[in-house]
Amino acid sequence: LPNYYVLPSGDKIPSVALGCWRAREGEVGNAVKTALKAGYRHIDGAWAYENEAEVGEPTHEHHYSLLIRIQKQLWNSYHYPEDVAPILEDSLQKLGVDYIDLYLIHFPVAFKKERTPEGKPVADLELTENTYATWQAMEKLVDSGKVRNIGVSNFNIRRLTNLTSNPLKYQPAVNQVELSFGNPQPELLAWSKKNGILLEAYSPLGSTEQVKQTLQIPEVVAIANELGITPAQVLISWHVQRGTVVLPKSVTPSRVEQNFQIFKLPQDKFDALEKAAVSHPPKRVVDPSGAWGVNIYEDQ
Ligand code: A2P
Repeated sequence: LPNYYVLPSGDKIPSVALGCWRAREGEVGNAVKTALKAGYRHIDGAWAYENEAEVGEPTHEHHYSLLIRIQKQLWNSYHYPEDVAPILEDSLQKLGVDYIDLYLIHFPVAFKKERTPEGKPVADLELTENTYATWQAMEKLVDSGKVRNIGVSNFNIRRLTNLTSNPLKYQPAVNQVELSFGNPQPELLAWSKKNGILLEAYSPLGSTEQVKQTLQIPEVVAIANELGITPAQVLISWHVQRGTVVLPKSVTPSRVEQNFQIFKLPQDKFDALEKAAVSHPPKRVVDPSGAWGVNIYEDQ
């Protein structure tokens, strides 16, 4: 299985990354440290995860910062073009790095510019179709050298088509979306391959809510037993074999280590797993957009 993919810029992006969503301060630093020792060179984080300082710290201690693909995401409250560079600066400072390898628009919708008296953003939807102006500000980050590659997250086909029908200086290199056995999104995967956009799988094990059930799926357990690997390794390998980047989150050292070991599944096992995944009604685990008054995933 590929250890990395090549982005349009020519940069290599490791196929397995450490996911940092829901990894709290006090534990995420240790997870990053363990990941670096185990060989990870791709850390997935975001401004909105409120743990950036601790995510960045071990990368300095280990003198790995130039090798690491840290990926950060532009939060909904900073879509106005004039806000994009300053909030990236905030992330760079917290992480203690000069540039970020891959920077994504976290969601395809924007919140109001309004702030609380403490200066915190508010989760109040304002614009739902404004991504082109934001994208142009993202392109400027590449030109300034602060970001090496840019992409999007949580975009469906319609929203990506809307964005890419504008004249773009840089195409979105990746689209990071929820992908799991429960929500395998075969149409989006096929469309993305056809259009040269790499998908990244967040919540690849079903996230906190579904991980227990996901790791007990009979087809997954059977393959794990046969190959002598863990159910999590079967699923993480399946994601890479489907041709996506995979971002398993763990703050447990032994899991961080095992999640980095991927194995090519025999074709018949891979096919059976794929068939099982796409043969049930899809179940999305993560959807904050309902609370924002728009369903960003289904509005095709
Ligand atoms: P923890 O962080 O406590 O180790 P996802 O990557 O789909 O978001 O899933 C994250 C959840 O899966 C977390 O609850 C994490 O627990 C758990 N998890 C991650 N890797 C493994 C693994 N190899 N085996 C069992 N559970 C895992």
